[in-house]
Amino acid sequence: MKGLGLDRLALLLTVASGTASAAPPAADARQPVSMPAAARAELRAEMIDFMAALNELIGYLGEGKLAEAGQVADARIGVGAMGKHRNSPPEAIPGRYMPDAMHGIARGMHVAASDFARVARKGDREKAYGALQQVTAACVACHATYRLE
Ligand code: HEC
Repeated sequence: MKGLGLDRLALLLTVASGTASAAPPAADARQPVSMPAAARAELRAEMIDFMAALNELIGYLGEGKLAEAGQVADARIGVGAMGKHRNSPPEAIPGRYMPDAMHGIARGMHVAASDFARVARKGDREKAYGALQQVTAACVACHATYRLE
C-alpha cells in the first residue's frame, strides 16, 4: 500500500465522484441537437437497429454471403430505409430537427449503405469491406459531431 497515501485516495475519490455527476464532461465539444421526445425515441430505436444490421451484415461477410450482406445493408441502413417516417406525426420525425449538415451526413450514410450493397453483390469481399467503411465513416462522423440535447 506504500504510495497510495490518504491524500492520493482522497484525490481518487474526488475524481470518481466528479465523473458520476450529471453534468456533461467539459471536453464534450459535440453540438447538441434538440428534438421532441417522440423524435428522440425514434432516432434511438433506429440507431439500435443500425447497430444490429451492421452486426448481421458483418456476419454474412465473414461467411462469404455477400449478397445477403448487401440485402441487410440496403433494406435497414440504405436508401431502402429512408422515408419510413413519411406517415408519422411531424414531432416523431428525427430528420426534421437535424441541422442541414447533420442531415447531409445521414443521407450520405443511406447512400453509402446502398453503394455497399451494389459492391457486395458483385462478390469481391475486399472491395465490399472498403465500401462498408464508407458506411461506418458516416456513423463515426455524425457521432463525433452531434449529440442529442
Ligand atoms: C446523422 C447522424 C447520425 C448517423 C449517420 C448515425 N448516428 Fe447513431 N446516433 C446519432 C445521435 C445524435 C445519437 C444520440 C447520441 C446521444 O446520446 O446524444 C446516436 C446514437 C446511437 C446509438 C446509441 C443509441 C441509444 O440508445 O442511445 C447507437 C448504437 C448508434 N447511434 C449507432 C449508429 C450506427 C451503427 C450508425 C451507422 C450505421 C449510426 N449510428 C449513424 C446520430 C447518428
